[in-house]
Amino acid sequence: MSPAMAFSTSDEMRKTNDDDHHVTESQYQKGVKHLHEIGISRVPRRYILPDSDRPNAVYKRVNHLNDATPNLKLPIIEFSELLGPNRVQVLKSIAKACEEYGFFQIVNHGIPLEVISNMIDVSSRFFALPFEERAKYMSSDMKAPVRYGTSFNQNKDSVFCWRDFLKLMCHPTEDVLPLWPSSPADWRRLAAAYAKETNYLFLMLVEAILESLGVWGATMNKTEEDDEILNKFEDGSQLMVVNYYPPCPQPDLTLGMPPHSDYGFLTLLLQDEVEGLQIQYKDQWVTIEPIPNSFVVNVGDHLEIFSNGRYKSVLHRVLVNSAKSRISVASLHSLPINSMVTPSPKLIDKANPRRYKDTDFASFLEYISSCEPKRKNFLETRKLNN
Ligand code: OGA
Ligand code: NI
Repeated sequence: MSPAMAFSTSDEMRKTNDDDHHVTESQYQKGVKHLHEIGISRVPRRYILPDSDRPNAVYKRVNHLNDATPNLKLPIIEFSELLGPNRVQVLKSIAKACEEYGFFQIVNHGIPLEVISNMIDVSSRFFALPFEERAKYMSSDMKAPVRYGTSFNQNKDSVFCWRDFLKLMCHPTEDVLPLWPSSPADWRRLAAAYAKETNYLFLMLVEAILESLGVWGATMNKTEEDDEILNKFEDGSQLMVVNYYPPCPQPDLTLGMPPHSDYGFLTLLLQDEVEGLQIQYKDQWVTIEPIPNSFVVNVGDHLEIFSNGRYKSVLHRVLVNSAKSRISVASLHSLPINSMVTPSPKLIDKANPRRYKDTDFASFLEYISSCEPKRKNFLETRKLNN
């Protein structure tokens, strides 16, 4: 007997509404993996986007596109080259990628392949746990250091998106580690190894980014203040988000994640071999082809602000599909949680007046707790009208 048939005789199911295929509120709250497991054959109303927000809808009509959305090969940065004689060339490629796409991919990054495959593997084992085990980490507090859930904010979202997630704060390790899931038994060890490696990679990338902006450099005359920003990043914040997108019976009606930008300085995204991530490029949604063992790196809101608008925090979203589940791990890095993010004084002059207000995490967290994270709203609120 299929799980769906087993369910259809239960009391809980009998109370429900035909249109939604016998899906109750408590079942939505259990997330999309649960809906997949009970074998629904149509997407419940709660997940159906207005026509204009669906994958393909607008662009197909406006731009006369056919069904296939274009795939994009993002600029590929050979990370190891940053440490050799071609550093200046690589810095230029990073600058161009951050200005034009807000995204690039890195290969030869030095993180052992085992650390990466262990992270994907332990994440799929976490999502394979019984719901009751995962539910121990559910919280309605957007600021909780560990939070399991579905959609974005399952208490507030009007339309749900097709993903379940586990969010973990990663610093300070000794405070947060005891709060991380205790099951699977090797979760803490493997996820902590991954968090440490990505943080180290982030620190090297941020040095490169600051150098590419001309605000810091190994060969530059530096003041103490210049070095201070790097010290701050060493003590910075890191939030890890493990996303699980189960197969979806009608992937054209919904999204794994709606269009959004990331709030931090840089995001390092690991995706498995299943496509899904799209970024906005020249007014189109383009799919980023996964490259095994690489990272997708993107500019977050804080870096757009810090660079006074030179580097772009670009909208991206996630498509789902009917055949395969998909896992991604996003590691969001920024300054310490209580520091101000402000445009670098070195990037402000007469020709380039200050374009953003100062901002801090507290106001961002306030913002996402109080509304749906729709499009670029938060960053828009930080813009000055010059
Ligand atoms: C995110 C994100 C993309 C993906 O977690 O912020 O954009 O491919 N994830 O899961
Ligand atoms: Ni994102």
